[in-house]
Amino acid sequence: MENKVKPNGNATLTVGGKSTELPVYSGSVGPDVVDIGKLYAQTGMFTLDPGFTSTASCESQITYIDGDQGILLHRGYPIDQLAENSSFLEVCYLLLHGELPNAKQSKDFVDAITRHTMLHAQFDRFFEGFRRDAHPMAIMCGTVGALSAFYHDSTDINDPAQRTIASHRMIAKMPTIAARAFKYSTGQPFISPRNELDFASNFLRMSFAVPAEDYKVNPVLARAMDRIFILHADHEQNASTSTVRLAGSSGANPFACIAAGIACLWGPSHGGANEAALQMLQEIGTVDRVPEFVKKAKDKSSGFRLMGFGHRVYKNYDPRAKVMQKTCHEVLKEVGHEADPLLPVAVELERIALQDEYFIEKKLYPNIDFYSGITLKAMGFPTSMFTVLFALARTVGWIAQWQEMITDPTQRIGRPRQVYTGATQRDYVPMAQRK
Ligand code: CMC
Repeated sequence: MENKVKPNGNATLTVGGKSTELPVYSGSVGPDVVDIGKLYAQTGMFTLDPGFTSTASCESQITYIDGDQGILLHRGYPIDQLAENSSFLEVCYLLLHGELPNAKQSKDFVDAITRHTMLHAQFDRFFEGFRRDAHPMAIMCGTVGALSAFYHDSTDINDPAQRTIASHRMIAKMPTIAARAFKYSTGQPFISPRNELDFASNFLRMSFAVPAEDYKVNPVLARAMDRIFILHADHEQNASTSTVRLAGSSGANPFACIAAGIACLWGPSHGGANEAALQMLQEIGTVDRVPEFVKKAKDKSSGFRLMGFGHRVYKNYDPRAKVMQKTCHEVLKEVGHEADPLLPVAVELERIALQDEYFIEKKLYPNIDFYSGITLKAMGFPTSMFTVLFALARTVGWIAQWQEMITDPTQRIGRPRQVYTGATQRDYVPMAQRK
């Protein structure tokens, strides 16, 4: 990556009467940044920012979010245009290479991904080590990390060719692994990938086909699946992406870094929220109970939050949620679930929360996870698979960010500091003298 930040003057930090000049840089759009890299050397002080709310951890040219306006751009292209006009593999190419592919580049890329969808035969035995009721995300963490034990020829991160092949392998094999994690939990035999199918259709077939009968991919569901993958493909420096970058900053192999990202994504504040949002809608159950749950969400002592609401960055409607809401209606219509009792609950919850002073004041809007649970359920996926689908799609974002980090000349191992409030130095106390 070629660094492109532009100097834009200095900021002055004054502490205890002593002033320090800190360089300010501008990106192409978005807030300027104050470079505090030399702050410790110049002042002996650190900055404190738990949760990184005001900290840019890197320079990046992949994804831009304006949370106040509700804008999400991949390499400059708005997410709604990509969801409407593009395909997931084209978005993968865009994220990895910076530009939309021409016809030849597109064909070559699709061919490369399609040819890597199979797993090493020994890899299948690996699944059997898991209990049959294992959560598919647990299987994903373990098996993706294990890819490094199967593909030794793509773990040298200093070789661009090996990085490319590792990237292609992960994008290509993730649907196969995800579908196997699903099949394993249902006790059905694994279904092999079919090269004549597009990415989303192939995944649906590997997830839902059984050897006993033919499986016909529903084109409406395949398009919806592809769009859901596009919506989840990347999202700037979120927790799992930052985890991948931090893991990768030590020089760890790419498969291990992506496994670290999957582990982070699993949490209910991040990728696990779609599962939690659907469970919440099921718990609410009927429209008349919505006010009760909104009241509970406003009561801090209840510890309850409206899952699928709020976002660290979006202080406006999540632009992905708009596309997801449309996709949700399309899918429910196609599978004849227009009468799903959870849909009116979701619509009512959204309506009430958007009018409520608490949610308005805190700028809490529906996020992508609010409608994705109902959509995926209608497509036939159990809740335990929701975050797996997120991981499958986000893999390309993690890889693009990891590749960018490796090629960034300013990259160093990530090593945050702390403000220490523990015990100061003291002498060891022998057991006999302890109280
Ligand atoms: N329901 C009720 N109150 C909320 C909610 C919610 N969903 N989200 C935030 N708040 C309140 C929170 O209590 C706090 O109030 P106060 O200022 O009085 O203490 C205020 O809003 C700010 O919340 P925060 O926790 O400081 O904000 P954050 O930026 O640290 O957290 C979040 C962002 C997404 C973790 C949080 O909004 C949340 O827990 N939402 C529910 C889980 C969810 O839907 N997560 C999916 C995120 S989108 C998918 C992804 O990118 O992974």
